Amino acid sequence: MLRRTLLAASRSPRLERAARTAPVARSVVRRYVAGDRAGDALRVTRELCSAGLRVTIDNLGEDVTERAHAERTAHEYVALLRRIAEDGLAPWAEVSVKLSALGQKLGGNGAAPSPDGEKIALDNAARICAAAEAAGTTVTLDMEDHETVDSTLGILAQLRVDHPRTGAVIQSYLRRSEGDCLALAGPGSRVRLCKGAYDAPASAAFTRRRDIDLSYARCLRVLMNGRGHPMVATHDPRLIDLAVALAALGGRDPGTYELQMLYGVRPRAQARLAAEGQRVRVYVPYGDDWYGYLVRRLAERPANLAFFLRSLLGR
Ligand code: FDA
Repeated sequence: MLRRTLLAASRSPRLERAARTAPVARSVVRRYVAGDRAGDALRVTRELCSAGLRVTIDNLGEDVTERAHAERTAHEYVALLRRIAEDGLAPWAEVSVKLSALGQKLGGNGAAPSPDGEKIALDNAARICAAAEAAGTTVTLDMEDHETVDSTLGILAQLRVDHPRTGAVIQSYLRRSEGDCLALAGPGSRVRLCKGAYDAPASAAFTRRRDIDLSYARCLRVLMNGRGHPMVATHDPRLIDLAVALAALGGRDPGTYELQMLYGVRPRAQARLAAEGQRVRVYVPYGDDWYGYLVRRLAERPANLAFFLRSLLGR
């Protein structure tokens, strides 16, 4: 119930305005977000890489309503990738991209992908993939609400024709995801498996934690037994242990899969796993459009919520 309320709040412009004007809220933001500018993300990336971790950088923002905004986001990624190359951070650093930030929902009713929007997002994403290739690194498409999955996987398939190392996210809370993992477990594929952070109806998604975890384990088994590069995105210690065990059972070397976590979440575990020889990648978001991302993080960890609400009320 609390999670659903928070996820509804993540789309409320009124609450977003309140959060943005509360100066103390910044301290919560700082835990999960590298800063407002690309330079902040690159500074954090250098620190993490020198500690033996890898990084995927996300320019925060989603659901753009103007084409010019989508073009600016693509331009920002192209410039970011140039700086990743210049700073010698490729292939340690790659980028993560939301198609709704590249225009996927433009031209329709604004709530779901439309054919015009998909074309705009595909063109923008192709520019980013070309820039990543030139920089010597990769792009992974984030997965957003359940109504975007077919559209995002369709765009992924088109991108992979010219940029076969483009990756995508699969969310274990969706009932369809084991099938999607089977379809994506072929040679060269890069699949980031997470539990899922959006609200979804019971017809499309498992709602009990146990069912989401069991689905995660099934998807993980498919990906680890496949011929692609699984990216195990979770902070859940039991699922991380399962991933490492399945990789060992399947005779996978540490470099043929990755463990991935979010910036600010279980940083000590990130360092420990890397020291144990695992390949660990940290998802580092930056930008001033942090509201939706932050509220999804609070929905995962209600213990952070009281602190955040107090900061909103200025107490
Ligand atoms: P779970 O929520 O069960 O948490 C396990 C433990 O981790 C908790 O007990 C706690 O200790 C710690 N923890 C988890 N979240 C925390 C938080 N916010 N603050 C503090 N501690 C926390 N989702 C999506 O829908 N689309 C996407 O594209 C992505 N992309 C993505 C990339 C990467 C690299 C990661 C790690 C995650 C995502 N996600 C995502 C988010 C994902 O779906 C999920 O919401 C979070 O990872 C939390 O789920 P866990 O698997 O960590 O388990």
